[in-house]
Amino acid sequence: MARAIAAYQASFVFIDNPFFNYLEGQQQALSADEKRGAILFWSSESGCSNCHDGVFFTPEVTRGPLYPQFGPNEIADGSGNESDDGSPDKNQFRMPSLLNVGLTAPYGDKGGFQTLERVVHHYDHIQTSLEEFYNNEVCSLEQFKHLTAAECVDLINGGDDYILELNRAQIEAANGEGASGPAPRNFTDNEVGYLVSYLKSLSDPSAVSGSPEINSLIPPRDGGPDGNQLDAIDERGEPL
Ligand code: HEC
Repeated sequence: MARAIAAYQASFVFIDNPFFNYLEGQQQALSADEKRGAILFWSSESGCSNCHDGVFFTPEVTRGPLYPQFGPNEIADGSGNESDDGSPDKNQFRMPSLLNVGLTAPYGDKGGFQTLERVVHHYDHIQTSLEEFYNNEVCSLEQFKHLTAAECVDLINGGDDYILELNRAQIEAANGEGASGPAPRNFTDNEVGYLVSYLKSLSDPSAVSGSPEINSLIPPRDGGPDGNQLDAIDERGEPL
């Protein structure tokens, strides 16, 4: 039983990626741009590894929100350290792993960013990025396009004031203590491209949609063992 369960669990582990192959000595596993991105990612110039460190690219701890907040629970979402005085510490989000991140758009705990380029741009200058998001992007997201302007304001629900103020406070605190907070990075277009190439090199080909490994995890649409299986379909009735 232990061997059977271990083999089943192993089928969910997608850690065979070009970057790890490179670290194991396969010099050709990364392109020149991916290598440039790796060097930048792990350098103090980008600061990415201040937070995304270790083999999983996460120290497995939480921190306050760093990404745009919106929606019904935007000010009390997340988990852990919930405090009664309403202090921002109650909103804790786990530092996410970046393994297979090229396959898991949209990004951030609310899914506000559609592409990895947009995520890297966020770290350019977080306050400017947040303002851009609320002024120009949130209401045009695919999932909110059907809302009127007023409905979109309801959706943001004060999340903009909350996260902008919190970010300002975080920067002040970091400056005060000389701590390595998310300082503005002002990446060039080339650097954004290198970082994105590198992030995509963390994808295991077996985790790509349609691969034999992924397909084997999707049950056939045959009603299931008890005839009550629910099969997801889109608006047009096509299988998802
Ligand atoms: C101060 C800590 C910190 C730094 C520095 C940092 N990150 Fe993050 N990163 C986070 C946290 C926390 C989240 C999740 C935030 C959320 O969902 O609200 C995140 C999310 C992400 C995501 C989205 C993951 C997902 O599945 O949605 C990507 C990609 C990412 N970071 C890449 C980077 C890159 C590239 C850099 C360097 C330019 C960087 N991060 C620097 C803490 C950090």
